[in-house]
Amino acid sequence: MSLFWRIFALNGVVLGTATALLLWGPVTVSVPVVLTEAVILVGGLVVMLVANAALLRLGLAPLARLTRLMTTVDLLRPGQRLPADGSGEVAEVIRTFNLMLDRLETERATSSARVLLAAEAERRRIAQELHDEVGQSMTAILLSLKRASDEADEPLRGELRQVQEITRESLDDVRRLVRRLRPGVLDDLGLVSALTSLSTEVAAHTGLRVVRRFDADLPVLDPETELVLYRVVQEGLTNVARHADASRVEVSLSHSPGTLELAVTDDGRGTAAACEGAGIRGMRERALLIGATLDISSAPGSGTRIRLAVPVPVPAPEPGPGDASAPEHPAPVPGKQS
Ligand SMILES: Nc1ncnc2c1ncn2[C@@H]1O[C@H](COP(=O)(O)OP(=O)(O)OP(=O)(O)O)[C@@H](O)[C@H]1O
Ligand SMILES: [Mg+2]
Repeated sequence: MSLFWRIFALNGVVLGTATALLLWGPVTVSVPVVLTEAVILVGGLVVMLVANAALLRLGLAPLARLTRLMTTVDLLRPGQRLPADGSGEVAEVIRTFNLMLDRLETERATSSARVLLAAEAERRRIAQELHDEVGQSMTAILLSLKRASDEADEPLRGELRQVQEITRESLDDVRRLVRRLRPGVLDDLGLVSALTSLSTEVAAHTGLRVVRRFDADLPVLDPETELVLYRVVQEGLTNVARHADASRVEVSLSHSPGTLELAVTDDGRGTAAACEGAGIRGMRERALLIGATLDISSAPGSGTRIRLAVPVPVPAPEPGPGDASAPEHPAPVPGKQS
């Protein structure tokens, strides 16, 4: 029903009821009005207004729902839609709004994909330059310092050794920076090795106990998906180290038909507020990039769990010779721990 007829019908019901009461009810109106009659009429008016307000609220409920969704909708959590059944202006507005959300979500996903890919390319370039330019120069300085300190006499030799030590630490910092900017091990050895090396590094630097649990039958992923998984674990572990006050964190990768699930679970203080900073929003954008779903559950005192469910193609069953019922996936083998 159109909005006009909806409101008209609601008012018609209220006014019709009031008229019927006046016609057939035990109500008379004298001139001049008697006090009891005035009380009854005012009472009737109040009842009519309350009934009208309640019916209007009911009739306009779809618009109220639409306004609520308009104010709370978040393009990083796609799929929030209102049912738009029937015809009329309200259903039309809801349908148009849903279509607008479809378009905005697609545009948002495309533009954030472009930004993320550009940022990754830039990181890669900076890492390459740091490695090739700064890293090489510092290595050359280190070698020269070593030669000079070998040939120098005390106390110059001691000072040169100190400078050598400082240069070596700086070179380590540069290498760490390069690894964080561009997880080269991801390209060379794959996701599991990259996550292993990342968790080992975090454990060494923070004192956290990082437990890894990776299924043995993980599917082969494209480089973009691997990078998203790596970055989500990187941000998850950084958050645990910065905010959680945890003693143990588990990073797991498990595979079921059609889905690869990544989880980072800590036993820290958790958080009640759903305040999301650039880190978590970045995770959501990356999840959108590969069509994955990100879910963060946390409660004060019971830790935080980040789950990323990545859709993966289900391999077509390969019937062995004479065996038409070969299992699609071997049973998972428990992963190793650190
Ligand atoms: N593992 C965790 N345990 C407890 N609180 C957490 C955890 N992870 C995130 N939080 C809370 O969620 C908030 C948002 O995290 P988010 O990563 O988005 O931002 P941030 O870490 O504060 O800053 P950055 O943008 O540098 O990542 C944090 O400020 C923190 O309060
Ligand atoms: Mg963060």
